[in-house]
Amino acid sequence: MILSIESSCDDSSIALTRISDLKLIYHKKISQNEHQKYGGVVPELAARLHTSALIDIFEEVNLYFNDIKGVAITNSPGLSPSLLTGVSLAKAISLGLRVPLIEVNHLIGHIYSLFIEKEEIMPLGILLVSGGHTLVLEISKYNKFNIISSTLDDSFGESFDKVGKMLDLAYPAGEIIERLAKNGEDKFKFSIPLINSNSNNFSFSGLKNQVRLEIQDLKEKGILKDEINNICASFQSVAITHLINKLKRILKNHKFKHFGVVGGASANLALRDELENLGLNLLSPKMEFCSDNAAMIGRVGVVKYKNKDFINHKDLKIIPNLGYKKLVF
Ligand code: KG4
Ligand code: ZN
Repeated sequence: MILSIESSCDDSSIALTRISDLKLIYHKKISQNEHQKYGGVVPELAARLHTSALIDIFEEVNLYFNDIKGVAITNSPGLSPSLLTGVSLAKAISLGLRVPLIEVNHLIGHIYSLFIEKEEIMPLGILLVSGGHTLVLEISKYNKFNIISSTLDDSFGESFDKVGKMLDLAYPAGEIIERLAKNGEDKFKFSIPLINSNSNNFSFSGLKNQVRLEIQDLKEKGILKDEINNICASFQSVAITHLINKLKRILKNHKFKHFGVVGGASANLALRDELENLGLNLLSPKMEFCSDNAAMIGRVGVVKYKNKDFINHKDLKIIPNLGYKKLVF
């Protein structure tokens, strides 16, 4: 089995994946709710919480020690203190058990969330929508891909979190906004970002500012409470339309036999519906594997193990903010 660890942000997770048939033997994730009161993840606090949560989970897998053939760890991108915690633990386990160490890029992990307990399908077009990234890319192998488009400013998920903060919703706000939007209407008709631009890239900060001004206005009029659902519906509708518009542009020049949506925000059903309408052969992860988890890291771990793609303990470093252009393996 591959033991995998994910601790790049605020989720502490460990999984065991059987190499022979990809079966997920064990998977546990502890999400840190302690950040809610700060309206965002506090890196130092996240690392402190990982140190105890990861050990609590790790103690549950000690029955399987003899079956572990490799340790897969997320080393990039992410919050530096969070990554350090997981990487240090992974090095210690791999040294202790005398099994190879495997570094896994978190974004490639999200892509492989499509293939947990399944054979992989490649090549593949991908829309990755998370709290940290909004990317369209083409991937043909776990270490061979081409970035087609990215965001110029905020990510899709981040824009939900920022609007949530303006509305005093809990963090992360994506799921809450999706729920509130169901009871609202696209009443405010915010303008769609970059609608007349020739670029394939995304931008969410202008939309965020439009929403901020509207919220300010509604607050001054004392009617914000009555309009929260409509704000959520109007914001979500434009954010999704923007993604879909740019994807339509991209699809004119790129034909994908298969297309997957991944990342925390791929849990959004309104987004999935719109993607289905594009006539794509759409793959999406199971709901439980959309947000950060160690099962997806373990799935990459199995591929890299089979390719003997290991890394020395000394050479494994964290690369917190490598930027999508310099994905390292
Ligand atoms: O992939 P993920 O768990 O962490 C990162 O790697 O960033 O993604 C978390 C992001 C958060 O911004 C969260 O608000 C967003 O995914 N998210 C959603 C939904 N569920 C989670 N955004 C929109 N709609 C959702 N249903
Ligand atoms: Zn993620």
